[in-house]
Amino acid sequence: MARLLVTGGAGFIGANFVHHWLRTHAGEPVVVLDALTYAGNLANLEPVKGRAELRFVRGDIRDTALVERLLREERLDTIVHFAAESHVDRSIHGPDAFIETNVQGTHSMLKAARTVWLEERVAPAHRFHHVSTDEVYGSLGPQDPAFSEHTPYAPNSPYSASKAASDHLVRAYHHTYGLASTISNCSNNYGPFHFPEKLIPLMIVNLLHGRDLPIYGDGRNVRDWLHVSDHCRGIERILEKGRPGEVYNIGGGAQSENLTLVETLCTVADAAFREHGDLAKRFPDAPPGRGKESASLIRFVKDRPGHDRRYAIDCRKAERELGYRAEVTLERGLRETFAWYLENEWWWRAVMDGSYQRWIETHYR
Ligand code: NAD
Ligand code: DAU
Repeated sequence: MARLLVTGGAGFIGANFVHHWLRTHAGEPVVVLDALTYAGNLANLEPVKGRAELRFVRGDIRDTALVERLLREERLDTIVHFAAESHVDRSIHGPDAFIETNVQGTHSMLKAARTVWLEERVAPAHRFHHVSTDEVYGSLGPQDPAFSEHTPYAPNSPYSASKAASDHLVRAYHHTYGLASTISNCSNNYGPFHFPEKLIPLMIVNLLHGRDLPIYGDGRNVRDWLHVSDHCRGIERILEKGRPGEVYNIGGGAQSENLTLVETLCTVADAAFREHGDLAKRFPDAPPGRGKESASLIRFVKDRPGHDRRYAIDCRKAERELGYRAEVTLERGLRETFAWYLENEWWWRAVMDGSYQRWIETHYR
């Protein structure tokens, strides 16, 4: 039985992971530590609200004393470290927060784990799992082989540089102090509770409002899409079977150019509007509600500076050692994700109009 500390558990992937873990490990304690930044949202934990195993603590991963206290008091033996600043565009406009949270924050987590687990020996059998990204490997050409665990690091954005630095710190704490750590580098996630600043949820919400669908550059950049449920299962496998000191790549096996992806999403939306007559009333500004195609909203806009051309993940090591396999195809994943946003309009409206963030500020000072 594991006793988990999940950092960033009110964010997109962290919350999905907590839902998954409590489904598959009922009765095992989970403490979520989250600062509730703009990207963190207690509503993301609504599906597990009231579960006796779950404790939520609003706090900063840079507060080393707080992390040490939680590890001691709750006798936690496993950290799953998601908390980060995660949006590349934000890192271009303001890199400082990325260094503070992703580099200093990860170092604070490592220091706390070292003190409590290695020096005080509160949990001699422990695991520090660090959730990282394929972006640390840089950008691929069209014919290059996919990123493996041996691909040299070549981060290109302040975000990916900060994640690369945090990966190196995790590695160093394993080699120098003997911390039992693992790292996963995964590709672009998508699915429920995805904050509408990232490509897929932004396109869904814009489409429903009849707003432009902005495609950076020529739209030919390739991402390897991973449904968040597959990612969560991958992390679970690493916790159960992964070897300390090892790195595992987790991918979705679903490469797509951005333009093709957005066109597919438009097709999914048009079909949903044809099938469900009420959608035209609920979203009167969406093109398919007015007899037009969603793709008519696509606009090419100025490219992101330093925009990586292609990511692709080789996850054969995770398949071989952990029995990991992505199960959700991109086509199915996009259909289900679009349906989730239709069913959970309350969620994205609250996130986008800031009312949720205002509520948090009055309830969690
Ligand atoms: P997210 O931005 O949705 O969530 C981040 C969470 O961390 C939020 O709940 C936020 O409140 C919390 N947080 C931020 N700073 C904090 C701090 N100082 N102390 C405590 N909590 C803090 O991010 P996500 O998309 O869920 O990504 C989770 C992790 O996975 C990140 O480490 C990210 O780098 C990595 N990752 C994400 C993707 C992706 O496609 N989203 C892909 C690869 C790797
Ligand atoms: O690869 C893993 C990474 O995936 C994670 O580490 C990051 O946390 C996560 O945000 C994501 O980074 P990307 O930059 O790839 O994701 P984003 O959704 O911002 O963009 C996906 C692609 O779509 C990228 O090529 C940029 C493009 N794009 C994005 C937006 C927001 C557009 O063309 N238009 C847009 O409006």
